[in-house]
Amino acid sequence: MKVLAIMGSPRRNGTGTEVMKMIERRLRERGEVEMEVLHLADVGLQPCRGCFSCIKLGEDRCPFREEREALEKRIEAADGIILVSPGYVQNVSGLMKDFIDRMAYTNHRPRFFGKKVMIVANGGAGLDRTLDALRIAIGGPEVVSELAYLALPWPTRPRTGEKNEKALLRATDRFHDAMVRKDMRPSFGNYMRFRFFKSASEAAREWLPADHAYYHRLDGYYYDVKIGVGTRLMAAASMAIAMPLMRGMAPWSGEDRP
Ligand SMILES: Cc1cc2nc3c(=O)[nH]c(=O)nc-3n(C[C@H](O)[C@H](O)[C@H](O)COP(=O)(O)O)c2cc1C
Repeated sequence: MKVLAIMGSPRRNGTGTEVMKMIERRLRERGEVEMEVLHLADVGLQPCRGCFSCIKLGEDRCPFREEREALEKRIEAADGIILVSPGYVQNVSGLMKDFIDRMAYTNHRPRFFGKKVMIVANGGAGLDRTLDALRIAIGGPEVVSELAYLALPWPTRPRTGEKNEKALLRATDRFHDAMVRKDMRPSFGNYMRFRFFKSASEAAREWLPADHAYYHRLDGYYYDVKIGVGTRLMAAASMAIAMPLMRGMAPWSGEDRP
């Protein structure tokens, strides 16, 4: 199994790296693992310059696309991805945020299906918010495991270490098991996301042509999978409630339509 760890700390030998090594050790106990570690500090990813071209016109229109594509090749080659970020002011580090912004188009047009993601936040206060940001970092692969690892820049009680270790083993095992199972059944939330973006891409075709081209050729879901009748009915009902509530975000021609 191939695992790619994407590290968000500017400190290559910091706590996040220690945590990643413990995860690697546990994965090796469970089976054969080929681990690749990518420190964003070494990649030198350009920060997004805000042209919106990747989302509007297509990811190939990003002025810095080559460096992002090199990174995406490594994601493509992995079965599992571990995203690790220290908590900085109760959020991800700047390096990780730059990565997330560069991958923003995948929130509109997901890819990397079938891959499993483990997200790890290390720090103290606000790790839940750091995890919130990591959860939507890459659109497409399934986030199967989350770890909030308490690691402060000072010594803490032995009990904290024991709790961390237990949580790390549990989260790593969940990640490993999901990679082995290779289950590709979408959650209801992901199915709803598909329905929402497909519908929105019609309404906003003039403003988001790349989304329109992507969703226009898709029918039931992002990939070939059977969606049950109950799920489809429930999604249709949820869409009927949600879409009018989101009217404020829809493109407007300047005239109220009946
Ligand atoms: C700029 C900066 C902001 C930080 N913000 C927080 C914070 O909001 N809450 C917290 O508990 N720790 C905070 N920390 C501490 C780090 O999250 C913590 O030491 C982390 O484990 C460092 O990980 P690393 O060694 O992998 O870089 C901050 C550290 C830095 C450098």
